[in-house]
Amino acid sequence: MQPVKVLDGVYWVGAVDWDIRNFHGFTYSTRRGTTYNSYLIVDKKTALIDSVYRPFTEEMIERIKKIIDPSRIEYIIANHVEKDHSSAISEILELAPKAKIIGTTQCKEGLEKHYFGDWDFQIVKNGEEISLGNRKLKFIHAPMLHWPDSMFTFIEKDGLLLPNDAFGQHLATSKRFDDEVDSNILMEEAAKYYAVILWPLSKLVIKKIEDIQQLGLKINIIAPSHGIIWRSDPIKIIKSYLGWAKGDAKDKILVVYDTMWGSTEKMARAIIEGINSKGIETVLFRLPFTDISDIIKEFLEAKGLLVGSSTINNGILHTLAPFLEELQGLKPKKKIATAFGSYGWGGGAVKDIEEKLKKAGITVTSPSLTVKWVPNKSEVRKCIEFGRDFAEKMIRG
Ligand code: FEO
Repeated sequence: MQPVKVLDGVYWVGAVDWDIRNFHGFTYSTRRGTTYNSYLIVDKKTALIDSVYRPFTEEMIERIKKIIDPSRIEYIIANHVEKDHSSAISEILELAPKAKIIGTTQCKEGLEKHYFGDWDFQIVKNGEEISLGNRKLKFIHAPMLHWPDSMFTFIEKDGLLLPNDAFGQHLATSKRFDDEVDSNILMEEAAKYYAVILWPLSKLVIKKIEDIQQLGLKINIIAPSHGIIWRSDPIKIIKSYLGWAKGDAKDKILVVYDTMWGSTEKMARAIIEGINSKGIETVLFRLPFTDISDIIKEFLEAKGLLVGSSTINNGILHTLAPFLEELQGLKPKKKIATAFGSYGWGGGAVKDIEEKLKKAGITVTSPSLTVKWVPNKSEVRKCIEFGRDFAEKMIRG
């Protein structure tokens, strides 16, 4: 268990979780695993920036011991309360009993309510600094990015930003830096992370990036608490965050559906033919076969969405409900959508979908499309036209 040198006196001492496949209670599929990044700053005084998820405590401590005796740790910077970054603190404190925990007021409250420890805690104000000797740690409050307690730590001497969850990715790898991994995979995981965790907080993301720009922080390295460290081009991920937060997306349409006996599926396949006829990229997802967090990631980067369902009990198939509910929580901006589906007698699924899309704040274009029982040849043609017309609307903006 070797630490990884980030800079002279700055070491990655975290852990790689190769096996985790679901995060945040099955709301986020992590098929590439994750890492819990903890950083040791060795100076006249030593600080540990965040810790790891408890099952990985031993791994982190073994790495720390390769650099210093853990009893030398004087500060534990708790940028965030969530257990994947804090649940090893009590065990570190057994080895470093004089260490003081540093964080926000909300962090103190959160840690006390999670671990019930009588810990030495120092609350820091936004912009406050602590000197370690040659380096100073500057604390930047980042409330709701993504919890009320969230905070970034910045080391001006190195231009090193330690933003905890922000700019992270769930990506387990033996490599630690952006220039060592496949950049497409890295950006794919960074986008998924943004979509699932930060998308509903986009206004705050923009504001925090503007705050950092106004502070004039010169950022050379971004070392988040999950995944890869951005050292070759840290501005790339900041620009990507701004783009995602502002709703920048491609001319691309997602078709998400479920079907009872194949009629809605027949419609979906004809619809994508219509979209393709306009040269527009489209992706077809049937629920529940695709993980919702993967669809959400695709939707972050697409302008259009078509949702289809057969009707059951005057509403949608229940397999679509979690996806539509997730959209309501994400409140995506600058998207257009509409609905389609088959029915036998009363109908109702399409209306239900439209209402749910509107509740999510998505612009619903009309008309939607319904077919009774099985689509015949002329109805299949209508589905193709429907897809083509929707693509044209998206192109026109
Ligand atoms: Fe990675 Fe919000 O914890």
